[in-house]
Amino acid sequence: MEAGSFVDVPKDLLGEIERLEKLFTIDTAKLKQITERFVGELEKGLTNEGGSIPMNPTWVMSYPNGYETGTFLALDMGGTNLRVCQITLTEQKSEFDIIQSKYRLPEELKTGDADELWEYIADCLMQFIETHHGDTSKLDKLPLGFTFSYPATQNYIDEGILQRWTKGFDIPGVEGHNVVPMFEEALARRGVPIKLTALINDTTGTLIASAYTDTKMKIGCIFGTGCNAAYMEDCGSIPKLAHLNLPPETPMAINCEWGAFDNEHVVLPQTPYDIIIDKDSPRPGQQAFEKMIAGLYLGEIFRLIMVDLHDNHETHIFANQDISKLRKAYSLDSSFLSAIEEDPFENLSETAELFQSKLDIRANGPELELIRRAAELIGTRAARLSACGVAAISIKKGYETCHVGADGSVFNKYPHFKARGAQGLREILDWPEKEDPKADDPIEVLAAEDGSGVGAALIAALTLQRVQAGNM
Ligand code: GLC
Repeated sequence: MEAGSFVDVPKDLLGEIERLEKLFTIDTAKLKQITERFVGELEKGLTNEGGSIPMNPTWVMSYPNGYETGTFLALDMGGTNLRVCQITLTEQKSEFDIIQSKYRLPEELKTGDADELWEYIADCLMQFIETHHGDTSKLDKLPLGFTFSYPATQNYIDEGILQRWTKGFDIPGVEGHNVVPMFEEALARRGVPIKLTALINDTTGTLIASAYTDTKMKIGCIFGTGCNAAYMEDCGSIPKLAHLNLPPETPMAINCEWGAFDNEHVVLPQTPYDIIIDKDSPRPGQQAFEKMIAGLYLGEIFRLIMVDLHDNHETHIFANQDISKLRKAYSLDSSFLSAIEEDPFENLSETAELFQSKLDIRANGPELELIRRAAELIGTRAARLSACGVAAISIKKGYETCHVGADGSVFNKYPHFKARGAQGLREILDWPEKEDPKADDPIEVLAAEDGSGVGAALIAALTLQRVQAGNM
């Protein structure tokens, strides 16, 4: 860019916007192609041969009937926070009381030492119990549902052999190991009066908690820091469990771990930015689908586009400005993109203000247009891709109508995510245009009940019932 008085005003960013549109737009035909492969990969994951989607049996083997009772603790080790809850499932159908505390999960623990992580968790639990129960020495052990939202192999419901860390976690010495003894040893060292009853995934919790209050719920999804789904399969359709000789109609919730879809890069149209995200992540080659959808990555995709357009393309954006703050990896989270997409002003003055205050960057009019369009493209792609997963499970199970319970920061807070996802589903499943725009779609993705609180408690209750019935 030559020097001159208008040096920081790029001439025409239209070409750049068009380039981004080509990279990020996923048309109906592509959505259908992705879904078709997705269905096959779900099937493959259930076989002994396996595929890239793990399809983990969870030993959650029934839906709740609404009459479960009892008091349970629930621990949610999500990715951003640590949450401890005490849930009482009351005598009244589908009703519960909950008390909860949130603890920050310090960033350094995510890539630190395993012992430190377990100690920290044990401390939070102890603090919670002391606050709500007083003297712990006289307490009977409280049953706990532990929501451990990472891919884990389970031969039993109170076991979880970590397959691999996801969502940016990278703690050595845990992959390939059962996390339950590590967790229980830390509890024992601290004298925390808890008995782990069930280890669950957040998606399974979401499925069960949602089905507790709405029997049409057939799929539980998380669109948050990570992205994944669970649904109820029958054992007869799970060849990799055939050796157990379970009656074929026995239900078994499957934690898909669909974030791993297309790790082998057959159908997902990866952009240069997706390739960088993957290469610079602690687990390159893993979670290809998740890295295009989940909240952990949306802001980073955007940041990479901005840096690229500053450094490499003909129209250098933010020319002659110091973009050192923008260069910091993972410095923009998905709430930054949400704010851009939510800017109500035609001149995008809030976005301009955001760039100024957070990044010390002055964005001019055309640059602001480009910023907004880039955010829309990233958010729209994420929502439309997520529809492929929902459609694939529905097709696999032959669900023509059902409810899907969804939770997570992206689903709950990202602007237009729900509507864009619903539009994607409509295109994939060829639903006719609605005459009444307010009418329900055949498959509706709805806000879920609290999976890692109520869901974990329900699964603990269902597990205890099963143990008492002698059916483990
Ligand atoms: C990641 C985890 C998965 C979890 C999802 C949502 O994909 O691997 O277990 O369900 O994030 O939190």
